[in-house]
Amino acid sequence: MDPQELLSLCRRRGFLWPAYDIYGGLAGFYDYGPLGSLLKNNIESHWRKLYVFEEGLHELVCPIIAPEPVFKASGHLDAFADMYAECRQCGESHRADHLADGLHENPAALSEEELGRILEENAVKCPACKGDLSPPRRFNLMFKTSVGAGSAKAGYMRPETAQGMFVNFPQIYRHGREKLPVGAVQIGRAFRNEISPRQGVLRLREFSQMEAEVFFHPERKTWPRFDKVKHEVLPLVPNDGSPAALSLAEAVSSKVIANEALAYFIWLTHRFAIDVGLDPERIRFRQHEKDEMAHYAAECWDLEAETAYGWVELVGIADRGCYDVQAHLKHSGADLTAFERFDEPREVVSEEVKPKYDAMGGQFKGKTKALAERLSALAPDVVRGKSEIVVEVDDERFAVPSTCFEVVTRTEKAAGEKFVPHVIEPSYGVDRILYSVLEHAYRKKDDYLTLTLRGIMAPIKAGVFPLMPKDSMDRIALEVYDVLVAEGISAHYDESGSIGRRYARMDEVGTPCCITVDHQTVEDGTVTIRDRDSKEQARIGVDEVVRWVRSVVKGDSPGPDGGFETAEKRGN
Ligand code: GAP
Repeated sequence: MDPQELLSLCRRRGFLWPAYDIYGGLAGFYDYGPLGSLLKNNIESHWRKLYVFEEGLHELVCPIIAPEPVFKASGHLDAFADMYAECRQCGESHRADHLADGLHENPAALSEEELGRILEENAVKCPACKGDLSPPRRFNLMFKTSVGAGSAKAGYMRPETAQGMFVNFPQIYRHGREKLPVGAVQIGRAFRNEISPRQGVLRLREFSQMEAEVFFHPERKTWPRFDKVKHEVLPLVPNDGSPAALSLAEAVSSKVIANEALAYFIWLTHRFAIDVGLDPERIRFRQHEKDEMAHYAAECWDLEAETAYGWVELVGIADRGCYDVQAHLKHSGADLTAFERFDEPREVVSEEVKPKYDAMGGQFKGKTKALAERLSALAPDVVRGKSEIVVEVDDERFAVPSTCFEVVTRTEKAAGEKFVPHVIEPSYGVDRILYSVLEHAYRKKDDYLTLTLRGIMAPIKAGVFPLMPKDSMDRIALEVYDVLVAEGISAHYDESGSIGRRYARMDEVGTPCCITVDHQTVEDGTVTIRDRDSKEQARIGVDEVVRWVRSVVKGDSPGPDGGFETAEKRGN
């Protein structure tokens, strides 16, 4: 299919369109219209149903802007960059690794110099005007801003919702009664100053994510309901060419998937994909190559969908190890550890930083106590082998020489141990999912357009029409409409144009059923209900409409228990 046809339907029928159009637009920014907003809400609500209500993860809403130290710690300040080459003739910037597509197996893994050499050797020119290109340069993708007036602080628009959850680990852990695994989720906007935004909403500069950060004991990465799904076979594409027709249990035991928790969230992502209406024949889980992974990931699988633009990554499911929590612990000095109680107290050997008060007193006088407290809070690895450590007290920085502290080893009976949790992260891109759902639902036959959206996704669940706006038909149709809306079912009332035209308008936006009130309704209280996909019609009583529409629009898949076992039912 031609994606422009779908994008034109999206614009015409109020799903989505380029933002700030009257000023010529701004690349990488899109508006969602009335139907697009409803569809987006349906996707997000269904995700919330699976992750929050059924899996029992805790939802957070964190600020979009974060101070610089957050992204220094997370590695985004140093590593969240792409390379671009600028055209010397037309001035357009292009992703340098995309320019080398087909010239190297994985151009994104190359250094600036290597990529520059490949582009030069192959005489790659500007795709827009064939002009000469500059050598590749690195470009950090975060939007920078400043917070406050005067000597303002640097802030950044979050490039992922994830960091807000990592820095809140202590709150999430406490909220989950200090048991692991425990997880947080967040649905919200993320910002990336993409070098060449393109392909409609597939590569945006402002987009929406639905992310879960699930915290585990490093040696117990499993999930309570893995057993119930372990025999399922999913479309896996491992990076080592091993057979893809494996059950999840086989994939874990043969180390194709690193652990049960990762396998469970791959399964949950598959279930979500089917529920929102992606074509099961056009999705797959592709394992990242070792040199393809983000700076934080130890293992990653992408849910990809086949679209007119090729295979597109919709979701990344990554094992982030302890990378993020460890990094925030180190940079903030806060205690971001979890604690596990032993069955019996055990002898535990630990290390700590011990200030030498005698040596400090002479040098630091009145600041000694405060400096000693800061030193004791540091992790031994932070000071080990250093000739001095810079410590800040009351906005003043002090260089404390290594003669003033030591790392000591203690052996004691301990009731348990502290550890830095590991994280499994399913990270969903809402806009790409929404586009793929529309594309997989798009049908065109002899210029007649239908979106075969699943009932739970359809922005409008029922069209309600009087055959003619007279003889009480309009009054009854409006009553039917009011009842549907009062039941929380989104409906659309339409009395203009031929009935065929009105059906066509509803088919085009994916409305699963239409109800027509005609002369017979006035006589015997029955209406015609029409199914979008089969075009079949049935005659039912007005009082049956709500039940009928509900049965048409229901239809998410059962959970691993064959029914929805909610977190509430499980008692957590
Ligand atoms: N916290 C992990 C993370 O952000 P990611 O693979 O960079 O991982 C997750 O992003 C998802 O967000 C992607 O799978 C994709 O669906 C979506 N996404 C990423 N960049 C995007 C962009 N520029 N425009 C639209 N969606 C994007």
